[in-house]
Amino acid sequence: MRPVTTPSKAERGNLAEGEYPFTISDFRQIASVLRSDVGIMLTEAKAPLVYARLVKRLRALGLESFRAYGALIATDRGQDERRRMISALTTNVTRFLREPHHFDHLKKEVLPALIAKAKRGGRVRIWSAGCSSGEEPYSIALTVTSLMPDAMHHDIKILATDIDSDILEKARAGVYTRSSLEPVPPIDRDRGFQEVTTAQGRKVWQASASARNLISFKELNLIGDWPMSGPFDVIFCRNTVIYFDEEVQAGIWRKMAGLMPGGATLFIGHSERVTGANQFEPVALTTYRRVEGG
Ligand SMILES: C[S@@+](CC[C@H](N)C(=O)[O-])C[C@H]1O[C@@H](n2cnc3c(N)ncnc32)[C@H](O)[C@@H]1O
Repeated sequence: MRPVTTPSKAERGNLAEGEYPFTISDFRQIASVLRSDVGIMLTEAKAPLVYARLVKRLRALGLESFRAYGALIATDRGQDERRRMISALTTNVTRFLREPHHFDHLKKEVLPALIAKAKRGGRVRIWSAGCSSGEEPYSIALTVTSLMPDAMHHDIKILATDIDSDILEKARAGVYTRSSLEPVPPIDRDRGFQEVTTAQGRKVWQASASARNLISFKELNLIGDWPMSGPFDVIFCRNTVIYFDEEVQAGIWRKMAGLMPGGATLFIGHSERVTGANQFEPVALTTYRRVEGG
């Protein structure tokens, strides 16, 4: 007699434990939408995470299966939900002055010449691509204003873009908790933020007008069309293209190179590399210089 065994999840065709079945074809449909819409690649190992993040959406919509959810996001009326799904499946983890060596490099090696240019009436543009909830562009603004307190009266602008409209709303509001501002030295925090009390009586910190006026927040899909013409003197594109396949990443680096003059600086994430774009040479840890020509 064969021993009685409980079939595994894979044998039952189910990739995650829970109230709804989650089959390989459910997972593949979601993964292919993520790949085509935002360039992000999901491996099957991520199936339980996908389930956990989307199960709330199924409940909220009163749907009976992932198959029905997949059908919804493929329709015209499901496009809003498709955006919510992407937002639920992308990571927005960020923090102030993340990878502090980038901000030291910006301050010591890059900004002095750009500030001199701005003082002569020149134009300076910095792009934070994949800005999440704003900690990165506000860190850039703090670094700029530490050297040039009146930067808002010069032609210096920071463009901050992300695909996620909800996270951009948060970034635009520029409101942070005391603990999230811990990496910022108190002198810079007091210069760049004001303590305010919310309607619920919570004390939070809001970015000051001098920082907010330097930044324009815009929705932009890095794997779609880019409406801006640059040129950008500095681009921060950190921890955003990491989930894209190599070819898509290389296309983004080349497109960025096309918007940067020789000598411009590209900062990337700590576990990323610039490949497939010979217009960049490394100058410091995860820091690249746009070479002339190319
Ligand atoms: C992990 S956060 C990185 C934030 C910041 N750059 C940092 O390093 O702290 C990645 C951000 O990339 C955004 N993102 C993911 N795919 C994108 C795409 N195709 N186009 C634009 N932004 C995207 C996400 O919404 C998320 O806010």
